[in-house]
Amino acid sequence: MSFDDLYRQNILDHYQNPRNFGTLEHPDISAEDSNPLCGDEIRIDLKVKDGVIEDVRFSGKGCSISRAAASMLTEEIRGKTLDEVKRIGRDDVLEMLGIELGPVRLKCALLALKTLKVGVYGVRGWPGDDEEDR
Ligand code: FES
Repeated sequence: MSFDDLYRQNILDHYQNPRNFGTLEHPDISAEDSNPLCGDEIRIDLKVKDGVIEDVRFSGKGCSISRAAASMLTEEIRGKTLDEVKRIGRDDVLEMLGIELGPVRLKCALLALKTLKVGVYGVRGWPGDDEEDR
């Protein structure tokens, strides 16, 4: 089995068994955003204590790539500080997914990160927004 197959299998696993799927009752941060190309939406809830992400959930609907990326990202950020989360970028998410993506699928892959940054920065138009179009 090639590395590509392994990554695809991992994506499928996260899609079929998403980690941290659901919502939090009283989140400290909650953000929603959508993929303008397809209209799929995602919400991310965070519990933050002393600047550290204690708990995280995501919900919404999306394709296999967007859902798998959200699932992987939520696993990645638990226990991290908000400053560390701010430093997570496009390449980190693409590395987690591990497969080549075209421009359309790139929007899917980065939807969760974009939503997370909307919540963490508290604003739309986070600094990485333009990166999606590169
Ligand atoms: Fe909608 Fe991928 S097709 S997020």
